[in-house]
Amino acid sequence: HAADGKRNGDLCRDYNDDKNATSQDTLYTTSNGAPYPHPYETQRMGENGPLLLQDFHLVDLLSHFDRERIPERVVHAKGSGAHGFYKTTNSLEDLSCADIFKQDKMCPITVRFSTVGGESGSHDCARDPRGFSVKFRTEEGNWDAVANNTPVFFLRDPAKFPHFIHTQKRHPATHLTHADDSTLFWDYLSQNPESIHQVMILMGDRGIPDGYRFMHGYVGHSVKLVNKNGDWVYAQIHFKSKQGTKFITQADSADKSPDYSQKDLYFAIENGDFPAWDVCVQTMTAKEAEDLWESEKINVFDLTHVWPQSKFPLRKVGEFVLNENAKNYFAEVEQVAFNPAHLVPGIEPSADPVLQSRLFSYPDTHRHRVGVNYQQLPVNAPRVPYRFANFQRDGSMAFFNQGSRPNYLSSIEPISFRKRTVDLNKTHGHFIGNAIAFLSEIRPEDFVAPRALWEKVFDDGAKERFIGNVSGHMANCRDEEIIKRQIAIFREVSEDLASRLEKATGVKGYPGIAELSFNGSHNGMAKDAQL
Ligand code: HEM
Repeated sequence: HAADGKRNGDLCRDYNDDKNATSQDTLYTTSNGAPYPHPYETQRMGENGPLLLQDFHLVDLLSHFDRERIPERVVHAKGSGAHGFYKTTNSLEDLSCADIFKQDKMCPITVRFSTVGGESGSHDCARDPRGFSVKFRTEEGNWDAVANNTPVFFLRDPAKFPHFIHTQKRHPATHLTHADDSTLFWDYLSQNPESIHQVMILMGDRGIPDGYRFMHGYVGHSVKLVNKNGDWVYAQIHFKSKQGTKFITQADSADKSPDYSQKDLYFAIENGDFPAWDVCVQTMTAKEAEDLWESEKINVFDLTHVWPQSKFPLRKVGEFVLNENAKNYFAEVEQVAFNPAHLVPGIEPSADPVLQSRLFSYPDTHRHRVGVNYQQLPVNAPRVPYRFANFQRDGSMAFFNQGSRPNYLSSIEPISFRKRTVDLNKTHGHFIGNAIAFLSEIRPEDFVAPRALWEKVFDDGAKERFIGNVSGHMANCRDEEIIKRQIAIFREVSEDLASRLEKATGVKGYPGIAELSFNGSHNGMAKDAQL
């Protein structure tokens, strides 16, 4: 090997080409590469005697098997993924200096879709939001858009997230999910009315997407786009399905396979029917954000609200297509690690408190779920045209340990730095607006969009199905007081909605929320509300 210039460290041929592994011309070996006669051969004493501890082949096989599982994602555990390409069709260079937004720039992507609450073996057709994550492998590093299929979310105070998610998981004692015991589910929602917008979507006709190909994606949080002059705007990023949207009803979901969405996505791609999405942005200047607060009391850092498209129209930037299935689900989908903090120059986080908390939470869970060197796995590793260097070294499974390069900022072997391209004074300007006194203070504006859904978007059939979905789910709620409170919240959306629900559940709800107090939300609509 010395003759062809290779060193021992360069000989990891089989590991490096893992994705393209086939059975052709392979030799069966132990994990240290030694040829072994047969996989079923065990060493034992005599004909019927005990096995031998020296049998590394068997001991290693069983020990490795014992460690096959990594922790499932604490949320979004059930999912499907695929690879493809993104292309910028309409340059966004006026708003962002991100290299990927230059005209005709392309990059490889990996996408993972998911449900939220269920375990990794749970049903694909759950009434649940869907995750929609995209890893853009740009020439300036990986940019992850970790989005959902709905533009809004259940909360605007990040401290509520673990509480809310616990109500979506199994009960600590009965070990039942909310399909069988919905008490925790409605207890949480009836105490946190800012969830109402998401609840209206979840319980309506858009609550169960028909697989993953027929849904849009929304980053949901405001992010900041920064151009080469350092000027910035807020932006919302949307993925618009070129297939259109399709949903299934509660009744239809009953006879679908638990892996319905996985099958649909995998075989569509396998058969060459590649799904594709447009990438669009809505943008808003700081001044417009302040005006929006003044005129409609919509705070750009509040993801329980959407930006009106009449005022902030969608602008198409590019499109992506999924044209390649994973060859190995575990390596390419289970181990993929999406993180809203994986950003590239030209895209920045906003001050949205939920987004800010997510910037911490995802890499934290990845170090636990995948390991400290999760970024080195092939599916997560950046693919950039420059040789990158940093001072992160060692740790479990350090495949990329940067050779003999100094592991501190050295003057003897200096590395190079790229000059900052943006003006920090401008990029750090931020809008605080009329920061709301309590993150979760309930205001009349919280009911405007939910009311529009009920009154303008849902037709008669949709309304009927909505009442059926909610009352059906509430049938498994063990506490009538919770239902009375939730009906009061629905009454703030619409008297019509509340009275229909009262008929369907047989429970008379409270007249509205003016007399209610909430354990998690300041009631700005209470009779004696103090701001
Ligand atoms: C997954 C935390 C809100 C979308 C996850 C995971 C965590 C987490 C710990 C597991 C990640 C992994 O193991 O790889 C949080 C926290 C939130 C929050 C603390 C709020 C405080 C949101 C919001 C969205 C979202 C608002 C969408 C707009 C997703 C998606 C995944 C995910 C799509 C799955 C990623 C994948 O496919 O691997 N979240 N999340 N999350 N979250 Fe969140």
